[in-house]
Amino acid sequence: MIELSRVSKSYAKSGVKAVNDADVTVKNGEIFGFLGPNGAGKTTTIKLMTGVLKPDSGTVSIDGIDMAERALDAKRRFGYVTDNPELFARLKASEYLNFVADVYGVDTADRRERVERYASLFEIKDVLNASIGSYSHGMKQKLLVTASLVHDPDNWILDEPMVGLDPRSSFNLKELMRERAAAGKTVFFSTHVMEVAERLCDRLSIINKGAILFTGTLAELKTRGGSDSSLEKLFLELVDDKEEAKA
Ligand SMILES: Nc1ncnc2c1ncn2[C@@H]1O[C@H](COP(=O)(O)OP(=O)(O)OP(=O)(O)O)[C@@H](O)[C@H]1O
Ligand SMILES: [Mg+2]
Repeated sequence: MIELSRVSKSYAKSGVKAVNDADVTVKNGEIFGFLGPNGAGKTTTIKLMTGVLKPDSGTVSIDGIDMAERALDAKRRFGYVTDNPELFARLKASEYLNFVADVYGVDTADRRERVERYASLFEIKDVLNASIGSYSHGMKQKLLVTASLVHDPDNWILDEPMVGLDPRSSFNLKELMRERAAAGKTVFFSTHVMEVAERLCDRLSIINKGAILFTGTLAELKTRGGSDSSLEKLFLELVDDKEEAKA
């Protein structure tokens, strides 16, 4: 379970509130989609959720553990796939995976089994002895996904995970998200690809200019705009409405 309560964050440089008073609760067993246009505050929210950034105000907790009070304990409880898979270029992929497994204290049998499973699924098993610098963008992304699951976390947080993946890998990733949610774990991901959200999420939030405009199921969102509306249409209407209201 992931809980953000009234979280706000401004960047010192711009002074703009990148995230403004955001509440997010991701329950066990659900796939939660985080939607919004470019610059909406998705990545910033995820960085607050994962403790990469500290909020100006508000609280973050993972499985009930407060990020501000017990950061290490909270961080053990999730796997994180960043939107930028730039990793240690000089390490071999296998060395990187072992490093991550060491950090999380994963025993040899478990790490072997998990690396075998996910590296096979994402077709990078045969290149684990190559240096990460030689990997393509998509291969780095798949390595990051594999690394994020080495400690089999109860919470999985992914920032634009489908970007750069080929159709098969993208399909496999979505299957894995479903499988983990079905096992009672949480999956939280950001996207601006509406079709993905429409087919995958149990619940979703829509964020624009740092403010969360909607949280609920797709069915709930559709009651706002007629049941034949696509998520894309509803999304654009919601984002535009807010713009007009401000003007
Ligand atoms: N390091 C930073 N310094 C200053 N401003 C930043 C920084 N990172 C993000 N911002 C600003 O914060 C706001 C939210 O950015 P964020 O990266 O969270 O958006 P996003 O929803 O992830 O967008 P995208 O879909 O393009 O990934 C934007 O106005 C952006 O310009
Ligand atoms: Mg982003």
